[in-house]
Amino acid sequence: MNKTSNTKRIILLAKPFWGKLIGISLIILLMSGINQIYPLIIRSLTDLITEGKTNFLFFEHPTFISLIILTLILRISGTILNRLSWYSSNLLKTKLLHHLREVAYKHLLNLSIGFYNQNQSGKTMNKLSRGTSNITSIITNVGMHFLPNVVTAIISIIIVSSINLPIGIASISMFVPFFMIRRLYFKELEKVEKKSQKTWDKEYSHFWEVLTNIRLVKAFTAEKMELNKFYKTVKKLIGLRTNMEKIHNKSNAADMLIEVWTTAIVAYSFYLGLTGHFTIGTVILMVQYIQMIREPLWNLSWVFWEMKFAKIGVKDYLKILDQKIDIKNIDLPITPDKIKGRVSFDKIWFKYPDKSGQKVFENISFNVPSGQTLALVGKSGVGKSTMAHLMVRFFDPDQGHIKIDGLDLRDMPLKFLRQNIGLVSQDSYLFDATMAENLKYGLPAATTRQMRQACKTANALEFIDKLPKKLNTIIGERGVRLSGGQQQRLSIARTILKNPKILILDEATSSLDSHSEKLVQDALWKLIKGRTAIIIAHRLSTIQKADKILVLDKKEIAEMGSHQELLAKKGLYYQLHQLQTTEPSKLKKWDIVV
Ligand SMILES: Nc1ncnc2c1ncn2[C@@H]1O[C@H](COP(=O)(O)OP(=O)(O)OP(=O)(O)O)[C@@H](O)[C@H]1O
Ligand SMILES: [Mg+2]
Repeated sequence: MNKTSNTKRIILLAKPFWGKLIGISLIILLMSGINQIYPLIIRSLTDLITEGKTNFLFFEHPTFISLIILTLILRISGTILNRLSWYSSNLLKTKLLHHLREVAYKHLLNLSIGFYNQNQSGKTMNKLSRGTSNITSIITNVGMHFLPNVVTAIISIIIVSSINLPIGIASISMFVPFFMIRRLYFKELEKVEKKSQKTWDKEYSHFWEVLTNIRLVKAFTAEKMELNKFYKTVKKLIGLRTNMEKIHNKSNAADMLIEVWTTAIVAYSFYLGLTGHFTIGTVILMVQYIQMIREPLWNLSWVFWEMKFAKIGVKDYLKILDQKIDIKNIDLPITPDKIKGRVSFDKIWFKYPDKSGQKVFENISFNVPSGQTLALVGKSGVGKSTMAHLMVRFFDPDQGHIKIDGLDLRDMPLKFLRQNIGLVSQDSYLFDATMAENLKYGLPAATTRQMRQACKTANALEFIDKLPKKLNTIIGERGVRLSGGQQQRLSIARTILKNPKILILDEATSSLDSHSEKLVQDALWKLIKGRTAIIIAHRLSTIQKADKILVLDKKEIAEMGSHQELLAKKGLYYQLHQLQTTEPSKLKKWDIVV
């Protein structure tokens, strides 16, 4: 991505605000126009004192009173315009910032799981917040300050040059060496700034992770270790900041040059006054205009560098927007009228897309007739959850087809697919909201009666009713105020409300004690009735009722059949069953206790 296209993209991102930006720019321009008139009034007033008569622009011999009234009118208009510009620019900045956040949020919501597997959320959040505020600062700086500053400088230069051309030329030329020196040091600054942003991003994402895993930090008494890591980064960042300030010190030579140059021009104006070439009023006017040229040009250089710096952060923001959404709808997806629920895996090959991703499946094929139950069994890490994730298209297979009722998942709308599949995961994924709000994720329009019914089926009602606020109880971040089993029951109730045609239960009852597990299992089996279900479970006792059991091993299907058939086969499933019903010494092919 080259620089110009980034600039173009920033401008395009602000498209909805172009009109307002121009409006504010004009107000600021008007203000600076008003400011340009003051030196002329002061000259006229001074000449009135020293010479008894004066001119003001096109008016010959204006009186003292008329000049004062004009000053008053200009001051009051200036104050009103100033307030108006602040009012509109502050509002514009806020709206622009939220617009940029919305653009990014929309994109982030649509990005595939693969992106989140490879990017830490803390880092992404930091990049986004820096990017959005940097773009806002670039756009407001360019829109509101750049143009008025340029115009102010040009008008001042024209006025100064019309009075004395050499002074006009001298005041412009002082900026050539100024910009050149600044430019020289900017390259150095840019490098350090990049490094410091990278360091901070890394630390911030770790800091975020530490807070999310605070229980782990405390349990391992790692507070001190984490603080030390933080100090180390802070030390590095302060070092980088010191470097930057040292570079700024060197580039201060440019400012000194401007001071010397302006003093020389001012001295020359006084010299012309002393030698009778300028009136006292003109000398005062020149001094004020030289200041007026210096200020906008100085501002311009500041705006220019600010923008350059801001662009470093913007790159990261644009990079996030550039992330391709790889799991998406095809151009003309097919929406079936009704889903019966026949699931088939046809010669599936899959490897996780990240660089070190391992092959998980090699040529896997199986069928689950509609309304039937398939249990997935296999040792930890064999790919059971991956299979569930392929079903909901968190990832797409590298080769082969996963189909529902004969239609490839990629050919149906993503929304339709996910609405028809209920996935109860190993993790419960709950929000820091009330239980009712969490349940409504399954059915946004759910009534209290429906929610209570679902909770009853999931065996969750008994603990919910014991709480003073019942369904309106806030459950904390990721549901921390609930026990593991309660979290699972709530997430099952959420899927019951969703009422999907196909159910995938990935260790859905693993956090329950034997008593609740039995109750929830009963509920789940009631729920499963009439639906296609894929059940992943380590405890074989919970899946014996499944129509078919599929044993995964070494990226392939090792065995498939009913509980009785597989026991009779005396293969892997039999060994696993023996292991769970007798003792670990029976362990043969299964190298870990499941
Ligand atoms: N997001 C991911 N990115 C890369 N590799 C992954 C990812 N998720 C899982 N894996 C790898 O894919 C393999 C299968 O993982 P999966 O979670 O499907 O196993 P599992 O059978 O569900 O295990 P368990 O019984 O412990 O839940 C593992 O080797 C794992 O390291
Ligand atoms: Mg798993």
